[in-house]
Amino acid sequence: MTTEPTRTGDLSDADRRYLWHSLLQHRSLDTKPPTIIREAKGCTVIDEHGREYLDAMAGLFCVNVGYGRHEIAVAAAEQMRRLPFYPLSQSHAPAIRLAEKLASMLPGGLERVYFSNSGSEAVETALKLARQYGRQVHRGENRYKVIARYRGYHGLTMGALSATGQVTRRKAFEPLVPGFSHVEPPDRYRCRHCQTAPACTLACADEIDTRVRFEGPETVAAIIAEPVIGGGGVIVSPEGYLPRLREICDRWGILLILDEVITGFGRTGRLFGFQHWGVTPDIVTLAKGITSGYAPLGATVTTQAVFGAFLGESEEGVHFSQVSTFGGHPVSCAAAGVNLDILLRERLWENAEAVSHYLMGRIRAIRHPWIGDVRGKGLLIGLELVRDENRTPVADRDMARVAAAVKEAGVIVGRNVETVAGLCNVLILSPPLILSKAEADRIAEAIETGLTAAAPTA
Ligand SMILES: Cc1ncc(COP(=O)(O)O)c(C=O)c1O
Repeated sequence: MTTEPTRTGDLSDADRRYLWHSLLQHRSLDTKPPTIIREAKGCTVIDEHGREYLDAMAGLFCVNVGYGRHEIAVAAAEQMRRLPFYPLSQSHAPAIRLAEKLASMLPGGLERVYFSNSGSEAVETALKLARQYGRQVHRGENRYKVIARYRGYHGLTMGALSATGQVTRRKAFEPLVPGFSHVEPPDRYRCRHCQTAPACTLACADEIDTRVRFEGPETVAAIIAEPVIGGGGVIVSPEGYLPRLREICDRWGILLILDEVITGFGRTGRLFGFQHWGVTPDIVTLAKGITSGYAPLGATVTTQAVFGAFLGESEEGVHFSQVSTFGGHPVSCAAAGVNLDILLRERLWENAEAVSHYLMGRIRAIRHPWIGDVRGKGLLIGLELVRDENRTPVADRDMARVAAAVKEAGVIVGRNVETVAGLCNVLILSPPLILSKAEADRIAEAIETGLTAAAPTA
């Protein structure tokens, strides 16, 4: 990789003058300009000054196979030359081949693929499918409601945001779409039901059953959940939780939507997160790791049984009435195909699993009073930082200081920013799945350095 600095004064000025960034108070850029990343390789990104960072967030939970995979770039360029665009109201080979590949990777008869451009669109599509399915299958009922969890994140569009259970992300845009309600997440560290019990009682899952009964099962279309809540603070489903959700759905004729936008494609140590718990959803949403971020793509995959509800004569109007210009873009599908070949050839979920144990062990060995809980699945890891034995969350500004100090030590980590007021106290690790043990060491060392810099222990 080249490491000489480029001419960046004007880049930084133009950034501040013209770009509108996500989740950022632009006034802060006057004292703290954004990091402009110029290039990347493996797990390392390089900024415009030539400074290297270990990217322990894989961009934004995306770059599963790591940066700099030449063969993905070649496939995308070749596709752009051959057929740069065609809509999926008709068809093209890259989408067909990718749908076939996804169907072969997904268990449980999940094999009908609807492509879109992002995780939000994949979720939006799942929600719309569930509502239309409810109307077409349960004739005479009015199934439109969706039950989701607080702290879950499902995307930025109005439907996906309505499923999102993070008030800080929602409140500026409310009121959102009617029909969505939320229950407590299975947060073992802070569980109202069983935090002090020797084992999880699944009472939080049973609350979903209660909610269905009170709402009226004939009004409920779907339950949506991330197998591991990611951006909301890395909350891992306890043993038995997802099977309980499956039971509730089966009992009441409700569709189970599992949002695998982060957990899909090896991130948790299995190809798909739900495989840890032996359940299969009716609908799964995918994005991010599907292309490892090399091109935008989302996918909503259903069972043939769900798809069957949309079959009929043209004049019945039971087909799925939605169109996306760029969904399933040939260049993105070509990139995804090669990306998935790499993932499968190198069996990267196995490395995620192995390095995860090592990295979690290294982090648990750090002696710092702020480390309250270290949890995760595969290479999706959260460190909940607390100030005292009552588990008082570390304040936002201190979290920012820790993350900045870790970055100063050469590692980029995430945080659950702007999720739920007072509970944005989780540092998040989600590095590329190619992470080596030596790189895991660097992450652990940078976290220790960052914590000590932000809050000296002696
Ligand atoms: C679980 C989950 N679902 C959906 C989304 C939305 O994806 P996107 O940002 O690609 O629209 C995200 C984004 O982080 C996510 O974490």
